[in-house]
Amino acid sequence: MPIKTADDFNDRWRQPPNFPMEVRFDYLFLPAIDVLDQIRKDEEVRFTILGDDDWQVRMDRTAAFRTAPIEEIVTWPFRLVHFNLSRFYSDLLDGFQEEVMIPWRTHLSARGFTWQRLAPILFLSTQGASSTYHNDNSHGLVWQVHGTKTFHSYLDPDKHLPAEAAVIGETTAEEPPEHDAAARQSVTMRPDDQLWSHALTPHWVTTETALAMSVTLSHGGLCHQGRFSERELALRAYWDKNPGEAWAHDLRNVRY
Ligand SMILES: [Fe+2]
Repeated sequence: MPIKTADDFNDRWRQPPNFPMEVRFDYLFLPAIDVLDQIRKDEEVRFTILGDDDWQVRMDRTAAFRTAPIEEIVTWPFRLVHFNLSRFYSDLLDGFQEEVMIPWRTHLSARGFTWQRLAPILFLSTQGASSTYHNDNSHGLVWQVHGTKTFHSYLDPDKHLPAEAAVIGETTAEEPPEHDAAARQSVTMRPDDQLWSHALTPHWVTTETALAMSVTLSHGGLCHQGRFSERELALRAYWDKNPGEAWAHDLRNVRY
């Protein structure tokens, strides 16, 4: 299994900013359009129809999203996410467990990492679609599979959102706040490009091609030889004070 993590991963994973990764998995995805066509019909899919069209158009498209011709769907601006890909490990994502998840877990484990949750999330979007401005509780290995997206974050997130504010989700909005472009880290991601997205740092993603698909391996509670990343310490401190909320991670009520 030719997995190769950045040589300096151990030095860089503990603090922002995000950095490129080069993990070469053997896995070959089905064409993005075929993934979209199947996954849109799954009961656990989540999607948002976007665009400047009037409210009624978005309502009609939302109602028709699972059944309209696929050629039509891909002309609508939308974003879609699926958090429970194990449902597809024997068909749409045949081999994903064996060729991606197990090798990656083995690789991390052999290097002294442990975690609470490590699961893949699939994103599909069309031209004109943006994610919300948000932060996640988890570190992400973002893997661009089809089309192009730009992943925007800040070079120094502490200057924009303290970890304590990220923990209680003060971030989420449709658009990022006004900021100096020089403070931003915008990474254009083409097929097979990968990025390490640091937990609890605000970010947003724009779609640059007609259709784009990416998979994020999401790492909750990542720990190296017993040490969390620095921003994650704020999450731990919050859970110490609010232990009843710590399990809510498992709901995967993630912003996208
Ligand atoms: Fe995110």
